[in-house]
Amino acid sequence: MEPHLTIGELARRSGVAPSGLRYYESLGLIAAERSAGNQRRYARSMLRRVAFIRTASRVGLTLERIADALATLPEGRTPTKKDWSRLSRSWRPLLDERIAELERLRDDLDSCIGCGCLSLQRCRLQNPDDRAAALGPGPRYLEGDSPGDAERAAG
Ligand code: FES
Repeated sequence: MEPHLTIGELARRSGVAPSGLRYYESLGLIAAERSAGNQRRYARSMLRRVAFIRTASRVGLTLERIADALATLPEGRTPTKKDWSRLSRSWRPLLDERIAELERLRDDLDSCIGCGCLSLQRCRLQNPDDRAAALGPGPRYLEGDSPGDAERAAG
């Protein structure tokens, strides 16, 4: 039988406070059994789920998306490598998109990001008269559009 952890043990090992674990449980992201004394007891494999939730949240993925992903894992048994591989494959496009966003943020922040501020010298070249606004709200060039897209959209 899989060893079980108390909420304190799960909190210490995962780095998530007991209140956070209870919140995850209330959303159905993790599950506990109850001891004879009605105490929560978590299967040790919950550590992997909590690690997944914590890391995915840290890179900006919503709890809804995380819940959808975790819902693909089997209930009532410890997920296998195959189960996690399937989840990982389904998430690859989303993570690739997130990685591309982070790379743009890292590489393009000292240039015009098409946000409409027109505060940098480069804005005159890359976003004259804020034509990026024609593509929609927000920093268009950080979100994957290009000055060429803005030029076409502005007509
Ligand atoms: S950086 Fe804001 S419009 Fe160029």
